[in-house]
Amino acid sequence: MSLITKSINSALKQLVHRSLSTSASQIRIYEVGPRDGLQNESKFVPTDIKIELINKLAAAGIKDIESASFVSPKWVKQMADGVDVMKNVPRAPGVNYPVLIPNLKGYDTAKQCNIEEIAIFPAGSEGFSQKNLNCSVEEGLKRFKLVADQAVKDGVRVRGYISCVVGCPYDGPVHPKGIAKITEELLAMGCYEVSLGDTIGVGTAGSVRRMLREVLTVAKPEQLALHFHDTYGQALSNLLAGLEFDIKTVDSSISGLGGCPYARGASGNLATEDLVYFLYGLGLNTNLDLIKLIEAGRYISNFLGKPTESRVNRAMGDKFKNHQDIVTMASCEL
Ligand code: HMG
Ligand code: MG
Repeated sequence: MSLITKSINSALKQLVHRSLSTSASQIRIYEVGPRDGLQNESKFVPTDIKIELINKLAAAGIKDIESASFVSPKWVKQMADGVDVMKNVPRAPGVNYPVLIPNLKGYDTAKQCNIEEIAIFPAGSEGFSQKNLNCSVEEGLKRFKLVADQAVKDGVRVRGYISCVVGCPYDGPVHPKGIAKITEELLAMGCYEVSLGDTIGVGTAGSVRRMLREVLTVAKPEQLALHFHDTYGQALSNLLAGLEFDIKTVDSSISGLGGCPYARGASGNLATEDLVYFLYGLGLNTNLDLIKLIEAGRYISNFLGKPTESRVNRAMGDKFKNHQDIVTMASCEL
């Protein structure tokens, strides 16, 4: 390696380490494949396949797996077997299996399934709120407060999502001040964390930074999570922008599955395999087994009968031999 290349590499590493004042184990990956990933699939995925996918993700070392939603089956058919999934999925020790809840009816179902963590999901824009929840943002927040109040009383952890944090398929650009206000309300309801969702993947590093600067006036980085969709190919650069603000929880979906049935144009979430490879490249070991993740991604893609959306999964082919080979390739350490 030439001297110039070495000094550029060293400067880059220092830059990354300065901006990411975090250590490997501090990056928490919150997997949304079995819920956000599958909810948009038109082919119904049988309960046993969903459970096997969740098991494979847990076996790869993922500690947070959003496994189902208890929404109206009239609205999202794919999630209609949520109760069967949650009653039958073996709960591995140390693994968190949250579910998405739209209202008190869904919360009552969660209670019957021994759920320890729920996620509530107001929208960041009026248009999306109407399409996704059939009510205004304000009414949605009122309903979610009822759910959060009950959950807090029962000792159930509550996570908040905000969808369409930079752009909405119906209203266009979304003002960061509105997102900060909803974040504040969710934290006041008792959410331990708010996941900021670029639901349709229109964000760029610039718009994401503007949104985060505003949100960080009301929340600490450790109260936030980043949730990007890769519709415009911006998910990883948006993530880097978010990590610079010291946010340490990242949502992703195995095989890049995903999309919301009520967000026209939304494509898959940031793929978990791509995220893990990216973090290796920054020297951030996630304690996850990328080979097992690749296998999990192939398992579900094969079932769905479509190619994986994960670029890393596709690029790997059968070339890799072991975990260390992948880490070496991603970090390009000589
Ligand atoms: P509505 O039609 O106004 O509600 O929908 P309703 O109370 O009139 O209920 C309609 C029917 O659904 C009734 O059945 C209810 O009983 C039933 P009927 O009497 O007609 O036979 N129902 C339920 N059934 C089971 N479980 C329930 C439930 N609630 C009502 N919990 C509602 C309002 C909120 C229910 C509906 O709009 C809904 O379910 N919306 C959810 C849509 C959804 O799941 N979207 C995808 C998730 S959001 C997302 O993906 C974005 C995110 O990932 C962030 C990102 O990616 O950026 C979070
Ligand atoms: Mg999503």
